[in-house]
Amino acid sequence: MKRITMIVAMKQEAAPLIEQLGLTETSDISPILPCKTFAGQYKNLSINLVINGSDPLLGVENVGTQPATLAAHEALRNFAPDLVINAGTCGAFAEKGSKIGDVYIGERIRFFDRRIPLGGNYEAYGHGNYRCESAIELAEQLGLPTSTVCTGNSLDMSPTDEAILREEEIVNKEMEAAAIAWIASHYKTPLVAIKSVTDLMDSEHSTADEFAANLALASKNLQEEVLRLLDLLALQSDTAAA
Ligand code: ADE
Repeated sequence: MKRITMIVAMKQEAAPLIEQLGLTETSDISPILPCKTFAGQYKNLSINLVINGSDPLLGVENVGTQPATLAAHEALRNFAPDLVINAGTCGAFAEKGSKIGDVYIGERIRFFDRRIPLGGNYEAYGHGNYRCESAIELAEQLGLPTSTVCTGNSLDMSPTDEAILREEEIVNKEMEAAAIAWIASHYKTPLVAIKSVTDLMDSEHSTADEFAANLALASKNLQEEVLRLLDLLALQSDTAAA
C-alpha cells in the first residue's frame, strides 16, 4: 500500500480534508511538540496528516518555516512516506492571471526572503531551489496549473519581497513549502505542494482581510483538488501492483 503523508499548516486548512477522508486523531508525535497527527485509509492509500498545532500562550495557529520544518521532520521520521503532500493556501497576483480559489501545483519551490550575499554558494543556498518532477507530471494528468511556490515568514510583503516575487512567472506566496522541501530532500522523498489562493496581493484590499474572507472557500477548493490527486495516486498504485 502506498504511504502518503500530508503536511498542512493550519487546522482551518486541514478541516475539510480530515472530514472528507474520515481521518482520526492519533498520538504519533511527542506531546511536548505542538504538531497534531491524524490517520486513516483512502482506497489503497495509507494516509497520515500532520498539522502544526497552536501556540500554547497566544492560542493562534503555528505558521511559518519553523513549525513547518519541525512537522516535516517528525512526519518523515515517523511515517516514512512514499510521497509528501504539502497542502495549503497562498497569495498570488491577479496581474499574472490568478483568481481567488484557484488551485496550483508547485513545479518549483524556493525561499523569497533569504538573502545571503556572502559570495560562493550562499546566495543560491538562501534561495533554495527545489524542482518537483513528480508533481509536474501529476499536475499535467490532473489538468491543474503549475506555479513557483515562494516561501517566506511574513504574510505581508516588503517592496524588496515584491520585486523578487514578481520575477517569477506564476507565483504562489506562502509560508511553509520550502522548509518542507528542505527536509524532504534529506529523506529523498518526493513532494507535491498543492496551493489554493486566498488573496490577490495586487488587489486594493489588504492581504489579511482577503485571507480571512476567503480561507474557508480556498480550503474547500483545496480539499476537492487533493481528493482528485489522491484518486489519481490510488489508481497509479493499483496499476503498479497489477
Ligand atoms: N497564505 C495565504 N496567503 C498568503 C500570503 N499572501 N502570504 C503568505 N502566506 C499566505
